[in-house]
Amino acid sequence: MADAAAKSANLVEVRSLSKVFATRASLFGRQRSMTAVGDVTLDIPRGRVTGVVGESGCGKSTLARLVLRLLEASRGQVLFDGVDLASLPGSALRRLRRRMQFVFQDPYSSIDPRYSISRALLEPMRVQGKALDAKQSTDHVQRLMAMVGLNPALARSYPHQLSGGQKQRVGIGRALALQPEFLVLDEPTASLDVSIQAQIVALLEKLKQDLGLTYLFISHDLGLIRYFCDRIVVMYLGRVVEVLPTASAPPRHPYTRALMDSTFEPDPLRRRVINRLSGEIPDAFNLPPGCAYAPRCPNATGRCRIERPEIIFDGEHALACHHPLQ
Ligand SMILES: Nc1ncnc2c1ncn2[C@@H]1O[C@H](COP(=O)(O)OP(=O)(O)OP(=O)(O)O)[C@@H](O)[C@H]1O
Ligand code: SF4
Ligand SMILES: [Mg+2]
Repeated sequence: MADAAAKSANLVEVRSLSKVFATRASLFGRQRSMTAVGDVTLDIPRGRVTGVVGESGCGKSTLARLVLRLLEASRGQVLFDGVDLASLPGSALRRLRRRMQFVFQDPYSSIDPRYSISRALLEPMRVQGKALDAKQSTDHVQRLMAMVGLNPALARSYPHQLSGGQKQRVGIGRALALQPEFLVLDEPTASLDVSIQAQIVALLEKLKQDLGLTYLFISHDLGLIRYFCDRIVVMYLGRVVEVLPTASAPPRHPYTRALMDSTFEPDPLRRRVINRLSGEIPDAFNLPPGCAYAPRCPNATGRCRIERPEIIFDGEHALACHHPLQ
């Protein structure tokens, strides 16, 4: 099965993936549940950049963690190169994990601040149980630093001595340490200045070309997503509402249209935040029965308020709306 799937154009296939979080409002409060990711089906083609965009809290990071199985799904499947991640025993999952890596918004959130750059870059090897002698370690660190454009003289520096852009380069270097094929990048430039953001995006573009990587790139910034990504997945309150097959494809979902209208800055790298869209966002713990976007949608009808639109795939385009834009 893996051999057949290896020929597939998709490196990753997400099938009906859901994550429900149960929380308690207070110690004696009633338990409530919310669907952070609901029934997401998605293909991630090899060698391309699939972007996921949506407002804060729509489930982007939860989806990212589910795709890498850093979080257990409530329902659904993730197939990596044709292999269902949930079916793998721990040792096989650990081996497969080398091929898929995460780049965080804050690269040092997952690294001990007392680690030097050199140690941070060697850590993935150590975790995988690969012993390197002193010469191999130096070579490995120097190779990674060159790949991500860091001055080799910084190898003995500590995170507090680095700029935000340099720290993110270390984060990307760590992600590349085990020669992965697939990177999930969760808002990798969101905390950086605009000019530094452009440099990191250029680096990611170059690495993708040189190493033939596949990216799942997450951002709340549609301008950046349209600039960098080949395909765009739009999420609203845990669900995919539209998949655009190219960055320039015209949107057919009213929410995608509203997002595009709100990013007016012509230079994509200067658009940092989706402007507030008008209308109430429904309470994720208490979603209305129909389309979750209905309270904000100018095209909403009675049907929209009672019947949730299913996502319909038409070739590479996908849409969940009863009254799509023409
Ligand atoms: N461990 C958790 N327990 C309970 N609820 C959670 C947990 N993780 C996330 N959530 C909730 O799930 C929803 C989706 O969160 P998520 O972090 O995936 O959104 P996001 O799109 O990444 O947002 P942002 O743009 O702010 O990073 C939010 O309402 C969040 O509060
Ligand atoms: S289903 Fe109805 S409310 Fe939802 S986006 Fe489409 S038109 Fe708007
Ligand atoms: Mg997030």
